[in-house]
Amino acid sequence: MTDDRTTHWDTRYAGAEPERLSWFEAAPTLSLRLIRQAAGAEASVIDMGGGASRLPDALLDAGYRDITVLDLSAAALARSRARLGDRAAAVDWQVADVTRWQPARRYDLWHDRAVFHFLTDAGDRAAYARSLNSALAPGGTAILMSFADDGPEKCSGLPVQRYAPEDLIAEIEQLLPGQFEVKETGRFAHATPGGAEQRFQYVVFQKRTSAG
Ligand SMILES: C[S@@+](CC[C@H](N)C(=O)[O-])C[C@H]1O[C@@H](n2cnc3c(N)ncnc32)[C@H](O)[C@@H]1O
Repeated sequence: MTDDRTTHWDTRYAGAEPERLSWFEAAPTLSLRLIRQAAGAEASVIDMGGGASRLPDALLDAGYRDITVLDLSAAALARSRARLGDRAAAVDWQVADVTRWQPARRYDLWHDRAVFHFLTDAGDRAAYARSLNSALAPGGTAILMSFADDGPEKCSGLPVQRYAPEDLIAEIEQLLPGQFEVKETGRFAHATPGGAEQRFQYVVFQKRTSAG
């Protein structure tokens, strides 16, 4: 069944070249730095809501071999698969909504750039947290990047929940009490292909080894 959310994203990805979408980045430099800092190339990595991002390309180039990209838009993943050509076979592509997803395995690292911030409904955030907690191995790392508290109020025409790093930390602590410790926070500006500046923040969480 196709819901409104899926239709929105499929339409976005089918209607424009990925390089023209506001969230496009030619090289996911910060994401790759944070991932490499947290986990070596033997780690399993899931890019949650990865869309048509070039992160899987960069991870393959860096030697990672256990890469999953999940997105509710099949059109987005088709863009990445086409771009990667033969190398696409080395990536596990999953079409799913994170709020309804039942992970079949666990991962060492969860990366989310500009996905959690779309969850403006508390029930959806709770469902995301359940997916995060069941998919991430104890000791694993979750990197969450969202629009900052001084960032745009909308992304892709949809309202977003903006966070300062301390707000995101408080939100995750409220959703998953005592499960994570904070390793790093930061802020950065993303330059859109149209030349606008979007202020982002990120938090690197580590799941406690004592967590379930
Ligand atoms: C702003 S884009 C960011 C894409 C990618 N992370 C990047 O940095 O290029 C947001 C992505 O989240 C996906 N998305 C939105 N809601 C989702 C959900 N509930 N479950 C899975 N993916 C979702 C969209 O299809 C889209 O690809």
